[in-house]
Amino acid sequence: MRHLMSPLDFSVEELEKLLNLADDIGKNPKKYAHTCDDKRLATLFYEPSTRTRLSFEAAMMNLGGKVLGFSSADSSSASKGESVADTIRVVSCYADICAMRHPKEGAPLVASMASNIPVINAGDGGHQHPTQTLTDLLTIRSLKGRLDNITIGLCGDLKFGRTVHSLIEALVRYENVKFVLISPEELRIPSYIREDVLKRNNIEFVEEERLEDALPALDILYMTRVQKERFFNEEDYIRMKDFYVLDKQKMELAPKDMYILHPLPRVNEISVEVDSDPRAAYFKQVQYGVYVRMALILTLLEVELPC
Ligand code: CP
Repeated sequence: MRHLMSPLDFSVEELEKLLNLADDIGKNPKKYAHTCDDKRLATLFYEPSTRTRLSFEAAMMNLGGKVLGFSSADSSSASKGESVADTIRVVSCYADICAMRHPKEGAPLVASMASNIPVINAGDGGHQHPTQTLTDLLTIRSLKGRLDNITIGLCGDLKFGRTVHSLIEALVRYENVKFVLISPEELRIPSYIREDVLKRNNIEFVEEERLEDALPALDILYMTRVQKERFFNEEDYIRMKDFYVLDKQKMELAPKDMYILHPLPRVNEISVEVDSDPRAAYFKQVQYGVYVRMALILTLLEVELPC
């Protein structure tokens, strides 16, 4: 039985296969409509979510399966003190696969060790968000036609942004990927990513504070929100929250074939006037997230695929 805790749980070859399957699902969704007719997905969300939970649920429904779960710790027996390990043992009796989001780093891993069903990390604290990374990889590959030879700018909260951490770890495995890490001093990338992931693998990267300086060289701009829920005091959040605002004027500095991605939710970091720019790909990215989660469910459940 396989779980997904980090994008590195799949080799590059396995990822290629998964993304190819997601591609085919996007082109021929009806072909997969009954592949999970007898399966159930549990969504155990101890932290708020719109996209990840609903896209998992939509993915399972698109495959013919059923869904059950909770969308906040308060509405589960976690509020009475039940451990994640006990919860997953119980849920293993109700479902065939589970997606778990938790504010504590490592909680889905703890669940996976006690589980009789595959567990998918749907975001754990400021640590990892592997299914967002699968979504991001599919989006980049679909829009640019490649994952090698790209220069990607990651902008915003690089310190707490789990989507950024997961995406860097996944992209360093491709050839000639260059990173431009754009953040205020206080929200720079954690040292374990800088030292153990980037420097140790001899990956080319620069750290910048000004988005305007970085824009002209990018193939992809990955914007992120400054995450209020990760700050210990409100004053720091207020000081940081509007540090970057991508607007039409800044987009004039960007190449014509650069795409803007964002894991969403957005707050102020991308002005709504940018939404109509053909380079704005963040709502397309949401659709790719459904296809890739369908592919992931089929893969982890080892479902026989239709011809
Ligand atoms: N991208 C993402 O994780 O969004 P949600 O928090 O709405 O799930």
